[in-house]
Amino acid sequence: MVMKIKKAVIPAAGMGTRFLPATKAMPKEMLPIVDIPTLQLVVEEIVAAGIEDILIITGRGKSAIEDHFDRSIELEKLLEEKGKVEELADIKNISSLANIYYIRQKEPLGLGHAVLCARQFVGNEPFAVLLGDDIVHADLPVIGQLASIYTERGGTVVGCQRVGWENVHKYGVVDTDDPEASVVRVKRLTEKPDRSEASSDLAVLGRYIIDPKIFDIIEKTKPGAGGEIQLTDALNTLASLQQVWAYTFEGRRYDVGDRLGFLEATVEYALRRDDLSEKFRSFLSSLK
Ligand code: UTP
Repeated sequence: MVMKIKKAVIPAAGMGTRFLPATKAMPKEMLPIVDIPTLQLVVEEIVAAGIEDILIITGRGKSAIEDHFDRSIELEKLLEEKGKVEELADIKNISSLANIYYIRQKEPLGLGHAVLCARQFVGNEPFAVLLGDDIVHADLPVIGQLASIYTERGGTVVGCQRVGWENVHKYGVVDTDDPEASVVRVKRLTEKPDRSEASSDLAVLGRYIIDPKIFDIIEKTKPGAGGEIQLTDALNTLASLQQVWAYTFEGRRYDVGDRLGFLEATVEYALRRDDLSEKFRSFLSSLK
């Protein structure tokens, strides 16, 4: 039976080793894209798709995340006194975006393990998963695009794009009869395959609608690539039990946890901003 997607989970407990030293004391999910933390962009995508209950999986050293989505009475008072009306509205808006809950993953044992921490929150309904360091600029919120495919087809839906053969070793890769099709059944998923072993360059990119059967499967999933309990491995088992759809979503995706991805996001988001684009564009064109 197809159900409405009401809950979203954002794993944000990783150590961010690709972005050290910035992520030593600051969560990588709080890296700002111009002036908005990455995680806020992810929360806004979920809210735009009509989902209001969000669980963020955090860990030690990540309390800036909770503070960001909480009210800041002192700051509100100060902005009010200074007559900074717009800033005040923005700040108040962040703390009323959604119902946000938190749980700590006590050790970063992998993305699969992080998702397992959401079991009590999710219960027995299909749910959305969005990685806390992945953002997508799109006309329609990507998680809403996936929810529509789920409504049509049921099962589990993974958000994908072609990444080029030279990049397959960084991703979970889909084995399917037709990597060109916009929605296609997944035969097999492989985490971080060598280029020679990858059956396509269609990669899973940080957005999922998942059947709750995944929790029992993750519990039995052994550590895989990098010694971590991989969500991809659990989804691969799920694909042998029910339909898992690979959906090629529309939108420009950025991996903010990667240095180059972060820079690309910063430049392109700035160029899309009315208040910055003109001056920033002329600065960029002045560069040798
Ligand atoms: P990544 O593999 O990008 O995160 O996981 P990482 O382990 O922090 O990255 P590096 O390679 O060390 O730089 C994708 C998402 O899953 C979360 C991360 O926070 C990120 O948002 N994650 C990963 C967890 O919540 N727990 C984990 O054990 C691993």
